[in-house]
Amino acid sequence: MRIGILTSGGDCPGLNAAIRGVARAAYQTLDAEIIGIRAGYRGLIDGDYQIMERHQFSGILTLGGTILGTSRTPFRNMRVVEEDNVDKVYAMKMNYKAMRLDCLVALGGNGTHKTANLLSDEGLNVIGLPKTIDNDIFGTDFTFGFHTAVDIATDVIDRIHTTAASHSRCMVIEIMGNKAGWLTLYAGMAGGADVILLPEIPYDIERVAKVLDDRAKLGKFFTIIAVAEGAMSQEEAAMKKKEREAARMEREFYNVSQHIAAQLEKLTNVECRTVIPGHMQRGGSPCAYDRVLSTQFGVHAAHLIKQGQFGVTVALAGQQITQNRLADIAGVPKPVDPESQIIRAARNINISFGD
Ligand code: F6P
Repeated sequence: MRIGILTSGGDCPGLNAAIRGVARAAYQTLDAEIIGIRAGYRGLIDGDYQIMERHQFSGILTLGGTILGTSRTPFRNMRVVEEDNVDKVYAMKMNYKAMRLDCLVALGGNGTHKTANLLSDEGLNVIGLPKTIDNDIFGTDFTFGFHTAVDIATDVIDRIHTTAASHSRCMVIEIMGNKAGWLTLYAGMAGGADVILLPEIPYDIERVAKVLDDRAKLGKFFTIIAVAEGAMSQEEAAMKKKEREAARMEREFYNVSQHIAAQLEKLTNVECRTVIPGHMQRGGSPCAYDRVLSTQFGVHAAHLIKQGQFGVTVALAGQQITQNRLADIAGVPKPVDPESQIIRAARNINISFGD
C-alpha cells in the first residue's frame, strides 16, 4: 500500500502530530510505504517527493509547522494554465501514477479540500484531514490547530489586559481567522474581552464607543477589544466585496484594528493602541488538545485507507471521530452562528458585539 501525504495551505500546530498519527497507524495496520510530497500540491504538480523512512515520523508529535513543507496553490487557479504552461490537474494525476500511489492524504484547510475534491472527481483515491487555526471547515466541530491558536491569542489578551489597566487605555487586538470569527470569539471570551467584533456580526462604531463611555462611568477606564481580521462595520457589510475593498484602500488605515482604534480616539477621550499578533498564532508546539485530536484524525485516516473508503475527509462530531464526503463539504462555509448558545452566553455576561 503506497500512501502519499501532503500538507497544503497555511501551516498550523498539529500538522506533524497528524502526519505521525497517519504514519504510525498505517505502518502498524497496513503493509504501508509512505511517500512524503514536498510543499503541498506544488510538490504533486512538480513531482517533488521522497520515500519516507519510519524514523522520520519520530520526535515530531510536539513539533510546530510541517516536516513536509507547505505552499498556497489557490484552487481557483488549479484548472488555469499559467505562464509556466503546466496543466496542473494533468500533472498531479500523472505524478500520482508515477509515484504508484494507492491513495493520497491531503492535510489542509478549505482550499486544500476543494482541490482534494477535484482530484477525487478525477478518479484519485483521496482522504482529507481538516487543519486550520480558523476552524472554518464545514462538517467538523473542530479542526486541529484551532485550540493552540486560541491559547496563543488568549495569552496575548491576558498580557495586554494588565498594561491596558495600568495606562487606562483601550487596546484593540486583531486576531486571525480569515472570514470566520471562531478564533476571535473563543480567545475573546477566554481572555475576558469587553468587546468582540466578528465578521458574522457587523458592528456599529458608535455602539463600540458607547461601551468605552459606559465603562468609564463605572470607573473602568480601560477596555479590551478583540477584533477579527475579517470584521466589518454595518456600512461595509451592506457593500459589495469590490466596493468594500475600494473603501478600505481609501481610508487612513487599511487594517481593521488600526481603523477602529483611530475612530474610537475621535469618538471618545480614551487613548487607544493596537496589537496584531499575526503569524505567532500559527507558530510553535501544538497544545495537548490538538496533539490528541491530530493523532486521532491521523489514525482515522489510516483506518479509512484500510477500509478502502476514499473521497472523504476526517471530522469530529461530538465525541466521535468520523468522516464526511469531500463533495459535501468542499467550498461550504462554516461561519459563527450569531444566534448560537456561545454568542448568547457572551451577551449574558455583557460582552458587546458592537451591534
Ligand atoms: O488560514 C489561516 C490563516 O492564518 C488565516 O487566519 C489568515 O487570514 C491567513 O491564513 C494568512 O495567510 P498567510 O499566511 O498566507 O499570510
